[in-house]
Amino acid sequence: MVTAYDYTAARIADAAGIPIILVGDSLGMVVLGYDSTVPVTMDDMVRHGRMVSRGSSEALVVVDLPFMSYQVDAAEALRNAGRLMQEGGAHTVKMEGGVSIAGTVRRMVDAGVPVMGHIGLTPQSVNALGGYRVQGRTKAAARRVLDDALALQEAGAYSVVLECVPAPLAKVITERLTIPTIGIGAGPDCDGQVQVFHDMLGLFPDFVPKHARKYAELGSDMTRAFEWYAEDVRNGAFPSEAESFTMNERLLVELLG
Ligand code: KIV
Ligand code: NA
Repeated sequence: MVTAYDYTAARIADAAGIPIILVGDSLGMVVLGYDSTVPVTMDDMVRHGRMVSRGSSEALVVVDLPFMSYQVDAAEALRNAGRLMQEGGAHTVKMEGGVSIAGTVRRMVDAGVPVMGHIGLTPQSVNALGGYRVQGRTKAAARRVLDDALALQEAGAYSVVLECVPAPLAKVITERLTIPTIGIGAGPDCDGQVQVFHDMLGLFPDFVPKHARKYAELGSDMTRAFEWYAEDVRNGAFPSEAESFTMNERLLVELLG
């Protein structure tokens, strides 16, 4: 699974045969320029979900429910999930939390909304967690992550993302669950992995998390391309004849008398 936030990016991931595209609320940081996912709105997710669904033909499209779109009550959660599926191009939705949202997840699954869970480090709760930290390192914290995973499975979630969880704990959770786990910073033993588009491709210079691997350096390639272009314009190398349009020049002579 990789994230994508627009039509072109979705086409690229889809063409590569990536089976699941996540329209993550990480778009708050890498696309919208906020310093967390907290300010992301339903309208943001609907708009970007639509772009991605137009660009993907094979992949499963999962769209994040943003902060405070599902925490108030199950009815509001259901309406917002419905909106992501009816207007936002989502095949399924993803939401953060375990035991505390299990009742809401059950309502959604019963209503025909497939739910992917997301536990461990839940970035929408960054202000409650006190920062972006690995979750589940102590015995009590590991118990909480395991309980969250079991609660989601029990509530009918079809899969669960484990974010920033120690690898041995992710392994145990993966073995305990019958639904697939998808890891990000959760070691090699999850059933699948998810990465953020901009982190993988070297497009986000502000911060690269420890769990990300850069498979390309597109950011610096793009900067070089713009530098090269600007230089060509300044010295007259761009555009060439091949990049220009011709006309019958006799007409211009006539025009000018
Ligand atoms: O928003 C996002 O990109 C995510 C992934 C990191 C799982 O939720
Ligand atoms: Na997210």
